[in-house]
Amino acid sequence: MTASFPGRFPDTRLRRLRRHDWLRRAVAETTLSAADLVWPLFVHDHRAPVAVPSMPGVERLPIEGVVRAAAEAVRLGIPAIAVFPVTEPTLKTDDGRLALDPDNLVCRTVHAIKRELGDTVGIICDVALDPYTTHGHDGLLVDGRILNDETVEVLVRQAVVLAEAGCHVVAPSDMMDGRVGAIREHLDAAGHEGVCILSYAAKYASAFYGPFRDAVGSKAALGVTDKKTYQMDPANTDEALREVALDLAEGADMVMVKPAGTALDIVHRVKTTFGVPTFAYQVSGEYAMIQAAAANGWLDGPAAALESVLVMKRAGADGILTYFAPELARSLGS
Ligand code: PBG
Repeated sequence: MTASFPGRFPDTRLRRLRRHDWLRRAVAETTLSAADLVWPLFVHDHRAPVAVPSMPGVERLPIEGVVRAAAEAVRLGIPAIAVFPVTEPTLKTDDGRLALDPDNLVCRTVHAIKRELGDTVGIICDVALDPYTTHGHDGLLVDGRILNDETVEVLVRQAVVLAEAGCHVVAPSDMMDGRVGAIREHLDAAGHEGVCILSYAAKYASAFYGPFRDAVGSKAALGVTDKKTYQMDPANTDEALREVALDLAEGADMVMVKPAGTALDIVHRVKTTFGVPTFAYQVSGEYAMIQAAAANGWLDGPAAALESVLVMKRAGADGILTYFAPELARSLGS
């Protein structure tokens, strides 16, 4: 930023530039459009949509519902969707091996979207074991510890399975060390050098993931345990930069900061330090807070949603994953 001298009152009156709507729009430094948004969607293996109680307005959708939502994203100018599977509890195992099954729900969903929409909408898939493990952790749990290198070996296979299914972007969300490099190497070896890696590089151990864990059913599984031995301590910022630096060195194409609203400082530091495509995830708890307050008449919901996402862009995010994506895109245009 260049230093500018603000002048003095009364020659300088900053309110002059706020006088009219056209003028405010003309001088706005940040603008938000549908192209800045990514729409996260939940898919389940049932015929009807089922509401997620802690995320009013969000439903777990059948595969056809996700395909329809993806088509809606195309119409609205939303460039990409992120697909999260809800696994039947009876299909979960200790080692989450369903993650490696090319016929699992998320792979079938990716196939269905590709069949209908080809490459007109980006498909982002999480790489992590939590949808598939009985204990709800993102990695392999042995004697109360999450194993790093053993987990990475499984994650690289999961990433290849997702790439074979046709997803455009794999997004490791597990926070194991060294997984980005290993995934890149295995994707390339399998002929998927065109598949991008969006690394959840700075992902904090956060209370704001609660409603998401309700939605995918990993909360009950996780019980009283937490993810603090692999997700980051919200007290830290330098560590976030180290995480991002490592992931970029290992070949991440894009990085993510999460949650977004409680880490705008991190979004800003990451973008200004590295100058790479930086995404911010407005997570389930952030969405739930706004929706709950709006439902009580305590907040203007649409205005709060728009403001909360706009400031993520202002902080430096090139793209924002948000459950408000379709509503925002409708009100913003592309
Ligand atoms: C799983 C994953 C989580 C989210 C995205 N991928 C939850 C977690 O780490 O427990 C959270 C998204 C949200 O809260 O909206 N690895």
